[in-house]
Amino acid sequence: MRGRRLFLWALGLLGALILWRLASQRSPVTPAEETEQVRRFYDRIAPRYDSWVQQFERVILEDGRRWAAAQARGETLEIGIGTGRNLPYYPAEVRLTGIDVSPAMLELARERARQLNRPVELRAGDAQALDFPDASFDTVVSTLSLCTIPDPAQAVREAARVLRPGGRLILLEHVRSPLLPIRVIQRLLEPITVRLEHDHLLREPLEDVGAAGLMVEQLERSRLGLVERLVARKPA
Ligand SMILES: C[S@@+](CC[C@H](N)C(=O)[O-])C[C@H]1O[C@@H](n2cnc3c(N)ncnc32)[C@H](O)[C@@H]1O
Repeated sequence: MRGRRLFLWALGLLGALILWRLASQRSPVTPAEETEQVRRFYDRIAPRYDSWVQQFERVILEDGRRWAAAQARGETLEIGIGTGRNLPYYPAEVRLTGIDVSPAMLELARERARQLNRPVELRAGDAQALDFPDASFDTVVSTLSLCTIPDPAQAVREAARVLRPGGRLILLEHVRSPLLPIRVIQRLLEPITVRLEHDHLLREPLEDVGAAGLMVEQLERSRLGLVERLVARKPA
């Protein structure tokens, strides 16, 4: 009986090690290649995204979408808008533009906007190289996008560039936990989530926001420090 248990443990450990090795063996890619891989991934999973993320929202995000969208004012850009799950929560007077690298996700956002009768300009685009002039938005919003964008620091720099002086960046993201045991689990899982879903678990947007010259006005962590709500302002 004891021998059998030991054998099963050893088998489990071996399986975990093989999985770990598989997950860690990533061939090096350029940011442009990685962006293309992310686009292909989201184009493929777009029809399943809503039902998948719904579970995550219930357990982790609470009223986060409502909170993020309600902060928007004036000319607003949502980066990585996905299937447009924040659309129902934007104030009616906000003039909204959404960009995403995945045309299939955008198509679903278009359908959602039609159903909600919500005017929004939706375009394919890369958050790391925004196709907008400097200082063209009052608000930039990102929810759950910086974890998949290959170079999140560049995306935050771009958000800062297109914000008007005094404009605000609103983030709702899952991030690296400050609690060591949780962070260890995140570190173990990350090679697998990156490999399977292009989802980085150890990102720290707060650092990118500071480096981009934005001033943090509000910062809240919840769910063992896994979820971050952040509001930062571009100096006037
Ligand atoms: C986890 S989904 C989040 C979608 C949506 N923001 C939400 O809250 O449900 C990540 C989204 O970011 C988009 N994305 C990833 N990299 C991007 C990039 N470089 N530029 C624009 N969108 C990107 C993906 O296509 C996907 O729609």
